[in-house]
Amino acid sequence: MQVGLIGCGNMARALARGWRRPVLCSDPIAERARGLAEEVGGEALASNAEVARRSDLVVLCHKPAQLREVAAEVAPEARAVASILASTPLAALRVSYPERPVYRFIPSLPVEVRQGAVVQGIDSQQSAAEDGADGGDGGGSGALDVEVTQLFSQLGTLVVLDDSLVDVATGLMSCAPAYVALVAEAQIDAGVRRGIPAQLGAQLVVQTLAGTAELLRQRDFDTVAVRREVTSPGGLTARGVAALERAGLRAAFNDALDAVLGQGT
Ligand SMILES: NC(=O)c1ccc[n+]([C@@H]2O[C@H](COP(=O)([O-])OP(=O)(O)OC[C@H]3O[C@@H](n4cnc5c(N)ncnc54)[C@H](OP(=O)(O)O)[C@@H]3O)[C@@H](O)[C@H]2O)c1
Repeated sequence: MQVGLIGCGNMARALARGWRRPVLCSDPIAERARGLAEEVGGEALASNAEVARRSDLVVLCHKPAQLREVAAEVAPEARAVASILASTPLAALRVSYPERPVYRFIPSLPVEVRQGAVVQGIDSQQSAAEDGADGGDGGGSGALDVEVTQLFSQLGTLVVLDDSLVDVATGLMSCAPAYVALVAEAQIDAGVRRGIPAQLGAQLVVQTLAGTAELLRQRDFDTVAVRREVTSPGGLTARGVAALERAGLRAAFNDALDAVLGQGT
């Protein structure tokens, strides 16, 4: 399957690096497209329409506000479309790209190292109606749906959700690399304040993040179990956790999700 990327910014680069396959690509800044094609293989093309014409699957990697403007060039040529645009439901994508298979995925930056969380939005009702028939999650043929799902599954863990929940999931996993980096930075700075050099603190904190993620996977994602194992009654960690709770850690993450969903203050 020939993949074509429309837009060659941060997420297009992460996807292309994760896929490790040649891509066709275009970007208003030709140099950016050339750089990506040189890095991962494939070809930078002069227009979005040409990318669409020569691709089996067009992956929309521009900003959400450019949906209509890009569709005007791409829709007449595209055979199948996968969008990674935030806050852009399947219904809106289908208006811009009628009468062909349309898929909605939200990736997260670690797709670059094949450790990403990827959410696929599907129309559950339509999917149930088509169950057992030819159509599948993307409205393409069963074979195309499988191929597209496999493509995105290579990037890490793929979770399928009803499209109505994809924006909430975006706030959990797509924004989270920034949150995790910020949490790590805060810990490293706390260590600096008490005399641990930043570089050393970063090694300790980041290795602990990676190791804890692996432990959580092995413990069936049971966050409470892992926290209890570290938190002996009346111990040091219990004091630290209580301090974080007093400082409003949970409320801060709730506020962050509300803000992502446009409901914050
Ligand atoms: N970054 C993430 O973690 C993340 C996660 C999930 C989903 N997403 C989604 O992924 C998409 C890209 O995000 P990003 O962070 O990669 O943004 P980005 O770095 O700004 O990349 C967008 C690219 O699209 C280009 N572009 C603008 N107009 C275009 C056009 N008409 N045709 C083709 N390309 C065009 C931009 O060029 P100019 O800079 O010259 O305008 C830029 O190179 C967004 O829709 C976002 O919602 C991002």
